[in-house]
Amino acid sequence: MSEATQSLIEQAKEKFGVILKEQVERVEEMKKGGEPLDYSTLSPVIIGVCFGDGIGEIISKNAQTVLEHTMKDEVAAGKVEFRDIAGLTIENRAKHNAAIPEDVLAELKACHVILKGPTTTPQAGDEWPNIESANVAMRRYLDLFANVRPVKVPEDGIDWTFFRENTEGAYVLGSKGMDVTDDISFDFKVITEQGAERIIRMAFEFAKKNDKKRVTVVTKSNVVKTTDGRFSRVAKRIAQEYPEITCDEWYIDIMTAKLIDPARRADFQVMVMPNLYGDILTDEAAQLQGGVGTAGSANVGNKWSMFEAIHGSAPRMVKEGRAQYADPSSMIRASAMLLRHIGHVEEAEKVEMALEMCGQFEKKIVLTGRDNGATGEELTNYILSWYENPELKARWEEEVAKLK
Ligand code: IPM
Ligand code: MG
Repeated sequence: MSEATQSLIEQAKEKFGVILKEQVERVEEMKKGGEPLDYSTLSPVIIGVCFGDGIGEIISKNAQTVLEHTMKDEVAAGKVEFRDIAGLTIENRAKHNAAIPEDVLAELKACHVILKGPTTTPQAGDEWPNIESANVAMRRYLDLFANVRPVKVPEDGIDWTFFRENTEGAYVLGSKGMDVTDDISFDFKVITEQGAERIIRMAFEFAKKNDKKRVTVVTKSNVVKTTDGRFSRVAKRIAQEYPEITCDEWYIDIMTAKLIDPARRADFQVMVMPNLYGDILTDEAAQLQGGVGTAGSANVGNKWSMFEAIHGSAPRMVKEGRAQYADPSSMIRASAMLLRHIGHVEEAEKVEMALEMCGQFEKKIVLTGRDNGATGEELTNYILSWYENPELKARWEEEVAKLK
């Protein structure tokens, strides 16, 4: 081996040393634990809304209209406060060369919960500096360790809740890989005992509270033996505390197949998995529900929580002048999840029923993403009219009964 190569290896080892220290510090923080915020003790509950970019701007405004409508009495009573948070646009992030500029992060931290529109994630070679994804950074800075993504297809008996680990796995050092030599690139995947435990425990607790009988752990622990091996081991340990719940483990490859197997897929209930598997699996699941534009996601931590669509900012739609036809259902669903999270369960249920009436049952207002379909604003107004309709619950129950 040449001296030059030897020296590159030494440099890489040094960088790895720094990374290891950071990860040990992160674990020390996790060990301190923490209790989830009790929103019932807060007045006002501060809801930050950041619009993001691309179609994010439009669909977030649609969702904000719905959210503010449901909370108008609380706002008037001073129990809820909305704050617009600007500056999470790709232009501003590129200008500051930061995933989240510092002043924006401070504003986010001053809120209790956040509704966040899709943000553009740069990739090497495109028009933006290759900064880290704002989503990934926000999840890490606010320690939003659980990415909870429900997917329902009532006519197929599908009612899934995915618990995607959100702060480690292949993502935590996704921007800290190294080109060790001209020929060799390294990325890192990290799974910690504490990181695995808190997401797996949350999945089991959810199953217990919601009378679910099965928690499925998704890994590739037969091949990725160390990190996924730990995830799998932690799951087995925690499962022992919940004898009434069946816990099984599936590998990610066969799991992607089973989600589209009509004979088996309705058997899955709660699924828990490391970060990247969750990213992939939840897009697949959302597609079965009607597309990623229909799926919302909760990013839950102890101090803060953030709610968003599961998809990106669709720059192509904007370039082609189609942004107003983007489906805001994902962001409206995220708003319902936010409402439920802060304890406004009744309003959350009404928003969800209105969404389902419009999107799954009635299908009067159909979005195609193009000018042969309705606009996001039209759908938003229609959802609001259902929200206000005193017959909403009865009509929704009628539709659900037809499926049985
Ligand atoms: C998601 C998205 C993000 C992710 C992107 C935008 C960085 O795909 O929320 O699933 O990979 O987590
Ligand atoms: Mg994704």
